[in-house]
Amino acid sequence: MKRLLLMTLLLTGLILFNVSLASANGGPHGGFTPMTDACAGCHRAHTATNPNLLMVNTDALCASCHGSTATGANTNVDDGLYLSSRDDGAGDYDHGAANTPDNAALLGGGFVNYQGAAVTSAHSIDGTATGAWGNGVNRGVTGALAEGMTCASCHDPHGSSNYRILNETINGVAVTVAQVDEAAKDYDTEQWGAGTSAMCAACHGAYHRTNPNQGSTLDGGTYTHRVDMPFSYMGNDNPETIGFGGFFLPLAETNTVVCMTCHLPHGSSAAMTFSADGAGLPGETAAADSALLRLDNRGVCEVCHQK
Ligand code: HEC
Ligand code: HEC
Ligand code: HEC
Ligand code: HEC
Ligand code: HEC
Ligand code: HEC
Repeated sequence: MKRLLLMTLLLTGLILFNVSLASANGGPHGGFTPMTDACAGCHRAHTATNPNLLMVNTDALCASCHGSTATGANTNVDDGLYLSSRDDGAGDYDHGAANTPDNAALLGGGFVNYQGAAVTSAHSIDGTATGAWGNGVNRGVTGALAEGMTCASCHDPHGSSNYRILNETINGVAVTVAQVDEAAKDYDTEQWGAGTSAMCAACHGAYHRTNPNQGSTLDGGTYTHRVDMPFSYMGNDNPETIGFGGFFLPLAETNTVVCMTCHLPHGSSAAMTFSADGAGLPGETAAADSALLRLDNRGVCEVCHQK
């Protein structure tokens, strides 16, 4: 109840600041004017209840517009859906509405449901997860992040020069991801630019191997699939067009295989016969964990290799 009241108050505040705000990076994120009142939608100078002078914790703050029952943003990241009329009130932002069909599946996946099914793995965003695979350690084991992961670990709510307001610094690592969809805002068709894998590598550095000699890389005791190469090195079919079994995988610019070719950044509902992350993660059902993979089991392998 207390939380509900807080959310109602917050939403009232957000609707007010919604009206008077210029947008550059999408929604209330960035493009602030010198005399903006936008800050007050998320911060309190003296009476904040959370660190960073936030009115609510980051998870709840983002959910107040992007959550499944919210109305402040069309992008419902909990259910991985674009709902084109959610922010149609006075002073709305409506980004993507012209280019993204109503009810389209979002590019990032979902944190609770995706494509109508409960997720089988998702990046944790409540600030409790600190162990990231291959973060300053070998692949297959986790290394501690400086701070627990939230939406703001990856996105800058104040806007950024990166695609989808991805942070310019993630986990202490400078990240540059080309803006390729700044004007159109299509949340339904993949169009990634340079640096896409680098954002994942900021927390999972040991997984980012781009060995220019064809072949997998051995280090830290294991081999890993190369990334950031053209899909066609082994005579593979184009995963964006071949539709092996009716399934497709997206590539980045110049037909490049990136982390997100196989993985979703938010969460996936792919079905796994065996846990995909090998060890399982705290709080997850190890047997069903899909390691954010886009397709059931090892469907991703077959889209390119067709063995
Ligand atoms: C949509 C919500 C939102 C709005 C609007 C917003 N902030 Fe923030 N702000 C946040 C969040 C979330 C954090 C915490 C980021 C983190 O955890 O890394 C934050 C952190 C900060 C910080 C400390 C970290 C940093 O990035 O330097 C400052 C300073 C700040 N905000 C100032 C402002 C000012 C000034 C405005 C108005 C121009 C503003 N914010 C508008 C959500 C918002
Ligand atoms: C691990 C990094 C990461 C975390 C954590 C994360 N995001 Fe994202 N998010 C991304 C990436 C990468 C994309 C771009 C996906 C694409 O275009 O294929 C994205 C896309 C989006 C989009 C655009 C719609 C879409 O799905 O493509 C929104 C809105 C969004 N994120 C909000 C959030 C919110 C709210 C949270 C917390 C509940 C969050 N993100 C947590 C990385 C992250
Ligand atoms: C006041 C409501 C509101 C709040 C609070 C809010 N957002 Fe948004 N956000 C929007 C709107 C509106 C858009 C434009 C797209 C849409 O309608 O969904 C947007 C767009 C985005 C995008 C896509 C940016 C792009 O380049 O297209 C990301 C990523 C995002 N928000 C992340 C966050 C994160 C992370 C938080 C919490 C720190 C947050 N938002 C809090 C309303 C909000
Ligand atoms: C801010 C740091 C951070 C970034 C950036 C990040 N991750 Fe993660 N990732 C984590 C943490 C922490 C975990 C373990 C806890 C969890 O599952 O949320 C994790 C877990 C995973 C898992 C295992 C999930 C499971 O449930 O089995 C995969 C796969 C993964 N990340 C891939 C990616 C990819 C691909 C990207 C880029 C789109 C990415 N990560 C970006 C921090 C990050
Ligand atoms: C998006 C397309 C794509 C997907 C998906 C993909 N591969 Fe590959 N794979 C390639 C390309 C291209 C190469 C050759 C590049 C290189 O030489 O590193 C390759 C190389 C390989 C190799 C040879 C490595 C070596 O040491 O020479 C193996 C084995 C392999 N892939 C297995 C897999 C498995 C298993 C999966 C599923 C987990 C998978 N691939 C998914 C494109 C893909
Ligand atoms: C060709 C498809 C493919 C690409 C590209 C890919 N992954 Fe994976 N990833 C997988 C599969 C399949 C798994 C499930 C475990 C396995 O088979 O090793 C996985 C598992 C993971 C895990 C969970 C921990 C583990 O080792 O099981 C993390 C973290 C991860 N990947 C991060 C990344 C990052 C970061 C990138 C880019 C640098 C990336 N992946 C690129 C297919 C891929």
